[in-house]
This record gives sequence, structure tokens and C-alpha cells, in this order.
Amino acid sequence: MDSVMTLINKYFRSSNGELQIGGVSIGAITASHGTPLFVYDGHVLDRKWELLRSTFPPEFAISYSVKANPNRAILKHFLAKGCGLEIASGGEFYQALGAGCPPEKVLFAGPGKTEAELELVLARGIGEIHAESLLEIERIGVISRRLGVQAKVAIRVNPGGEAQGGAMRMGGKPAPFGVDEESLLVVLEKLLSIPSLEFRGIHLFTGTQILDPMTLIRQYRKGLEIARRVAGYLKQPPHTLDFGGGLGIPYFANERELDMEKLREELGVLMAEIKGEELFTGTQFIIEPGRYLVGEAGIYITRVNDIKVSRGKKFLIVDGGMNHHLAASGNLGQTIKRNFPVAILNKLNEKALETVEVVGPLCTPLDILAREVPLPSAEVGDLVGIFQSGAYARTASPLGFLSHPTPAEVLVQNGEVRLIRRRGTYEDLSHDIP
Ligand SMILES: Cc1ncc(COP(=O)(O)O)c(C=O)c1O
Repeated sequence: MDSVMTLINKYFRSSNGELQIGGVSIGAITASHGTPLFVYDGHVLDRKWELLRSTFPPEFAISYSVKANPNRAILKHFLAKGCGLEIASGGEFYQALGAGCPPEKVLFAGPGKTEAELELVLARGIGEIHAESLLEIERIGVISRRLGVQAKVAIRVNPGGEAQGGAMRMGGKPAPFGVDEESLLVVLEKLLSIPSLEFRGIHLFTGTQILDPMTLIRQYRKGLEIARRVAGYLKQPPHTLDFGGGLGIPYFANERELDMEKLREELGVLMAEIKGEELFTGTQFIIEPGRYLVGEAGIYITRVNDIKVSRGKKFLIVDGGMNHHLAASGNLGQTIKRNFPVAILNKLNEKALETVEVVGPLCTPLDILAREVPLPSAEVGDLVGIFQSGAYARTASPLGFLSHPTPAEVLVQNGEVRLIRRRGTYEDLSHDIP
């Protein structure tokens, strides 16, 4: 409950024990939009953007990572602030264009891009493709020649061991992401030998959910070192140097939020170090955060549908579960299952009197949203909220499992609650061809 109250005091409000989001009570929001529901607070998105923007020097462009939350209203929200988008699939490209993003402001990273995806983005004039293998570079070469376009290509590098960090390491070890630092020059030479390709720069991304500013700085230093080597080889600065995403948010009791003041200071030191260095003259630095920008703005809201006691243990059975929020159930790659911040949103000023399991309606023991969590005495109809649910929640969940309708999403801004994705219907399930 403590971490919940910290979040509520920081980003939301409560009135008479009821959560308010953007000035609207959770009772009113769920009365008009039902449950299960994802609610995002536009004001929190703004705050996170402003803090991130003021932490990074102006030399850094920000490309929001669509995979964290691909809702078009969210993309539009950030696009209006002047960012670009980082995508990892043809579907995300489609979402980006649908949100009004010019194709030249889109970067496409991710392993296993298909020929159809490459053709789609090249035909529409994508900003940059971040190649993840030698074969991919050859494919981009063939497709761009066929289309008669010049493809802008950066190389994603899987750096050597010293740049590791974060809860989910994606580099510094054998990985399907990027080309190994050891083979970078061979890959670069291949790229330079294909006339329909223009080499843009280097992309480095080694892990997500990083809460220590010095881990990020170490990775950025490593990125600079690799880019410097490449620039020295080419005898000219790279156009772009993409440092990836990875900025974390606190989920669990033992986690502290990323110290942005410290990060700002250290970025200042880093920039001072490379000031005047010819190998970076005119280089556009990029970061592509997802979780940091959206994670804290979202709350997943369910309603208690049944309460039962089994062999002394009390279960609150709510109307949504791991099918909508796999991460909260601890099944999205977590080795230790810990509770996201959770609360009964209409009983915020009541004391936690009992320890319960909050479970979803799926017929599997994996469907647990919170384990042994102290909560006020619950009744059927109460609203249970899972905080820190704006990123990798709905989008990273097995929405089809058990064929429940998919949850709706709303965005609250300036007292207005806007439906930004409708709830699924049973008809949506009937695309099968019997
Ligand atoms: C290539 C790439 N860029 C950016 C991100 C966003 O990471 P985060 O949400 O941790 O900022 C990811 C996440 O996996 C990624 O794979």
C-alpha cells in the first residue's frame, strides 16, 4: 500500500478514499467505460516527457519506442511534442503512420524483419532501418535497388561484455539482437559495398528496466567508443548514434526511481568530454525509451467478481487477469514473482486488514495478479487497480487466451475521459473459418 500511496501522491489524487485520475473519480470512469480497463493519465505522460527532455541535452533526439504501448492516441500525444518513433514490426509502422507520424521520423529496429516489412517501409520512405545481421543488410540492398530508393541503414551492435546492465539484458552476451561488436567492421564493409544503401550510424541497446544512472552512462560511453572507432575508419562522423532505451521505473518495494538529476549531471560530463571532437561533429544522438515515458501513466482496473476462501487462503477473483496483464502476473520473463503496486481504488482510506490473493478469471494457476497482498476488506464490486501498467502491459499479454473480450483503454486529459481503444466483443473472436 505504501508504494501505491507514494504513486497516488505523486501523480494522482484521492477524494473520500476514491482514486481520482486527471480530476475524474475512478467510479465515474468505470461507470461509463466498464471494467477491465486500462486508464492513462495524459498529465503524467506530459510530466514524464518534460523530465526526460530536460534531463537529456538538446543534442539528443527522442524516438518513443512503440512496443511499450502502441495505442495511436499515445503515439499522437508524444508526436505532438516533436519526437520520432522507434518501431519493430510492420504493424507498428502502420500504427505510426496512422497516428500521423511522417515516415522519415520512424526508425525500424528488431531482428527478423521480413522482406514484406522491409519493402513496406522502404516504399514509404522510412527514416532509418537498424540492421541486425549481414543477411538483413543484403536483403535491404536487394529491395531498395528494386524499388529504386536509397535506403538509410544504421548497424545495431551487440557490444562486448562491459556494457551490460538492466533487468533484462539484451546485449553483451550471445543474442539475436544486432551484430557482435567483433564482426562490426566486416558488416560495415558489406554495407558500404552496396550502392543502394547509405550508412547512417550505430545503434546500441543492451537492456531494459535500468534504474542506475551510471549503468546507462557506461553504456553510452561504450556507444561513443564504438561510434568513434567506426568514424575513425570512415574518416567522417556518423550521421546518427542511437543509444537505445532502457530507462526504468520502480515496480517493487525495494526499487528506487531513476535519479534523473544525477543522469543529467553525468550526461553533461559526457558531452563535455566529446565537445569539439571532430569525429562527432554534426552527429545526431538518439534515445528510444518506451517504459520510462508511459509506464507510470497507466493503471489496469478490474472489478471484484467473487470472493472465496480455500483452505484458509482468501482469493479475490477479479474480471481480468494475465490475459490482459501478463507482466503483473509475473509471467513475462520474471524469475522472481513480485507484486506490482496494487490497491482497492474505492477504499484508499481504509486500513489493510487482510492478506489476499488477487486472481483473474482464467482457469490456470498462473493467473495471479497479486500474491499475499495486504488489502482492506474487499467486497464484490470493489475496484482493484494495478499501478505502473502503462508499458508492456496490454500489448505484451496473451489477449486471446480463454477468449475473453479484450480490455478497453481510455485517456484522461484536462478532466475529459476519451475512449482510445474500444472493448473487444465476442464477434471479434469469430474471424475463424469453420
Ligand atoms: C530496440 C529497442 N529499442 C527500445 C526499446 C524500449 O526499451 P524501454 O522500454 O526499456 O525503454 C526496446 C525494448 O525492448 C528495444 O528492443
